[in-house]
Amino acid sequence: MNNNSLSLRGEELASNPARVDMELFFEASQNLYCPETNPDGAFLLNVAENHLMSGYIKKELTDITLNSSIPDWVLNYTDPSGHPEVRETIALFMEKHLCKCPIHPDTIGFSAGAAAIIEISSFILADKGEVVVIPSPSYPVYTGDIGIKSGLERYDLQTHFHIEETGSAAPVTIPILEKAKTDLVAKGKQFKILLITSPDNPTGCMYGEGQLRELANWCIKNEVHMVVNEIYAFSQIDTSDDLISIDYKEDVKYSSFANVMKDLHSDYLHLWYGLSKDFAMSGLRFGIVHSLNQDFMNAFRNGNIPHMVSNHTQWMIGELFKRNDFLEDYIQENKKQVTTSYKEVVKTLKKIGVPYVPARGSLFIWTDLSKYLKEDTDQGQEDLWISIYKNTGVLLTPGAGFGHQKKGLFRIVHSALPTSHLKVAMEKLERYLLAQ
Ligand SMILES: Cc1ncc(COP(=O)(O)O)c(C=O)c1O
Repeated sequence: MNNNSLSLRGEELASNPARVDMELFFEASQNLYCPETNPDGAFLLNVAENHLMSGYIKKELTDITLNSSIPDWVLNYTDPSGHPEVRETIALFMEKHLCKCPIHPDTIGFSAGAAAIIEISSFILADKGEVVVIPSPSYPVYTGDIGIKSGLERYDLQTHFHIEETGSAAPVTIPILEKAKTDLVAKGKQFKILLITSPDNPTGCMYGEGQLRELANWCIKNEVHMVVNEIYAFSQIDTSDDLISIDYKEDVKYSSFANVMKDLHSDYLHLWYGLSKDFAMSGLRFGIVHSLNQDFMNAFRNGNIPHMVSNHTQWMIGELFKRNDFLEDYIQENKKQVTTSYKEVVKTLKKIGVPYVPARGSLFIWTDLSKYLKEDTDQGQEDLWISIYKNTGVLLTPGAGFGHQKKGLFRIVHSALPTSHLKVAMEKLERYLLAQ
């Protein structure tokens, strides 16, 4: 292909895959494990999808499709922030279930997935070359979501090296932020946004309300925007379960950042949510932003047109989220299922002595396979990743792109396969690692 026909931006995109594991993901997707027809097939443990709960969602959406008629507004243009009736329904859902505090429909907006929310929020909150500080390790795709269109730079905040240093504690503290600020000032850079993910991707750690409040106060004082991405809010692990309770030294209660936002009522505080993870709907592309900053919400409305969620999807989601009994049962069941699949992976890791960060939430486990590296380099990490895949069919996410300095760390998604398949994947991984 002659890339000279593209813009410089286009040329750069053409040769930079969005994720390091994308090609292998497509390859593995064509060769999936099936006990009867493809026992040597692949196990996709690298993409954070929640297949445990998709049956519940499909049943409900089918019922809506069969039993309700589509309103006229679905075929027309609507408010770029989201259709007003659907925003009302989602604001009520957030108020009752997610945030447990009042949420006004005018303080929320929808885009086509959390990725689109991240992109447009970055565009609105910071200028090209300004810096988003993100605790390491963190979701690799943030780099592109904040960088490709808005040109923001990612600064990976190093809070620890060995995973045992932090355990399941949320690692960002005020002294660490002060240090990052000093470092950035020395480099002539502007610390513009602090981005926290809670529960976190990939460590599964969770920030308590006190910690969020402290960070928010620091951000307001330093005129830094703070965003908390709560996309895994309902995918919490039952840490009181007998098999895993020993992993958690202290109790951390989930509390949505919306509570801190309500109390501090600052233009610097914002929250992201999405339905791709907890609600098993990554394909429907539904992301949510909540902000009490009126200018931000105005800019969002004016800039969101290319990112809008289709009205048909908005309508279906609106109908689904009116079903309160369903939501209550779903949230309970999701927690049970996520805990069961989490334990399946932990059982293997404990058995073979692989260190991991005890997760409080999310759909994965962050593990340290560094003792199996042939060389302590990026190449050594990639070689181990490929070797695991070629020998077992198990496709993990390697640490590359998570911004962490230690090599040999991998993310294992536990919610993307039926538990019976996950068991086989873990048996194969165990056999492979023990033979090294
Ligand atoms: C922390 C985090 N934010 C955003 C996303 C993207 O979500 P969506 O599929 O809704 O764009 C992901 C997906 O893995 C994620 O882990």
